[in-house]
Amino acid sequence: MPKKVVLAYSGGLDTSVAIRWLQEERGYDVIALTFDLGNEKDLQTVEKRAIELGAIKALIRDAKTPFINFFAFPALMAGAVYEGQYLLATAIGRPLMAKMLVDVAQEEGASAIAHGCTGKGNDQVRFDVSTKALAPKLDIIAPVREHRMSREEQIEWANARNLPIQHTKASPYSTDENLWGRSIEAGMLEDPWEAPPEEIYAWTKSPADAPETPRIVEIDFVEGRPVGLDGHEMDGVTLVQTLNQWAGEHGVGRSDMVEDRLIGIKSREIYEAPGAWTLHNAHEALEQMTLSKPQLRTKNSLRQEYADLIYNGLWFTAHHQDLAAYVQSTQRFVTGTIRMRLHKGQATAIGRKSPRSLYSYALATYDRGDQYDHNAALGFIDIWGLPIQQQAREQLLADGQKPFQLGTSQGSEGA
Ligand code: ARG
Repeated sequence: MPKKVVLAYSGGLDTSVAIRWLQEERGYDVIALTFDLGNEKDLQTVEKRAIELGAIKALIRDAKTPFINFFAFPALMAGAVYEGQYLLATAIGRPLMAKMLVDVAQEEGASAIAHGCTGKGNDQVRFDVSTKALAPKLDIIAPVREHRMSREEQIEWANARNLPIQHTKASPYSTDENLWGRSIEAGMLEDPWEAPPEEIYAWTKSPADAPETPRIVEIDFVEGRPVGLDGHEMDGVTLVQTLNQWAGEHGVGRSDMVEDRLIGIKSREIYEAPGAWTLHNAHEALEQMTLSKPQLRTKNSLRQEYADLIYNGLWFTAHHQDLAAYVQSTQRFVTGTIRMRLHKGQATAIGRKSPRSLYSYALATYDRGDQYDHNAALGFIDIWGLPIQQQAREQLLADGQKPFQLGTSQGSEGA
């Protein structure tokens, strides 16, 4: 009996050719596995095509709910942003796909998994490393990375075998999407001086063409997780889909950046993540109100680490488990509602409330009703300033020295 491989099948040219290539070149029976992470696609057609191409089985897995609950929302709670502009939509999808590939491989008795990544991107690393972490014994095959056929060569190869591949007009761009966002690269974007053409965007209106009137939306969070919009409780998938619509309409969530890939090159990337950016900004506003200063500091210092870990394919690691445990603990009082304004490309927090707020009107106000103890401030300053006063008297100002002259660097010139 031929050995079996489970291929992550998107329905596109690369993975369609891969079905036949895995059979012909490697002698595998191919099980095609297609994921639904909220990428809009006609899944029935994809399934049918896999069988026509010779797969022995075609499976579709709807993974929208686990994607949001176990991948996107934890990344949101961690505040993970890669290099300041990327909310990691593609990157957080990969470990979930790897997990499903491994699960199906085990169910079906397959000895290998396969994916359509090239040898130049981050996604191959994420698939491979996640698979190694989950099932160290499985073989990993990346047909495109191995055969290195160009698009034209693949079409020729497919035509020579009469393969029913889809003859769509070749898009010059490489795109990837799921509920958390859309990634666009290649084509004319490879010239970093070229402004991104409007046609590459599918989810967001240009901020210039967005409505003059802002949309106001209230987002409810419970322990760091978004649970409702405008007072209506909602499951995570519906909530993110809805916000993608609303915020996309106002041009929220576009990024245009030059990013550092794990495999050592810089690349020009465009992203649109209207819902995710709205949630990110709202979540941050709620944390400002519900976390103490040292909690905010420490958590912020770990954000970068968390983003790198996701970007670099290290989801299934003990290090991630440790960081996630810390993040989760920080979220236990991050409950409340943030009012956001969506307007001309911006998602801005304009109102916040929380039953666990550390903000106190009675302490903060300058008006009547002030309960802050002003005398306590005096006492505090006496103690806070005590060592400074002592040092000034005994050392810095001793013998008529004038150490803090303007125009010298903190008065330490020549020291
Ligand atoms: N540069 C991004 C990342 O590494 C996006 C990759 C998009 N993938 C794609 N096949 N177009 O996460």
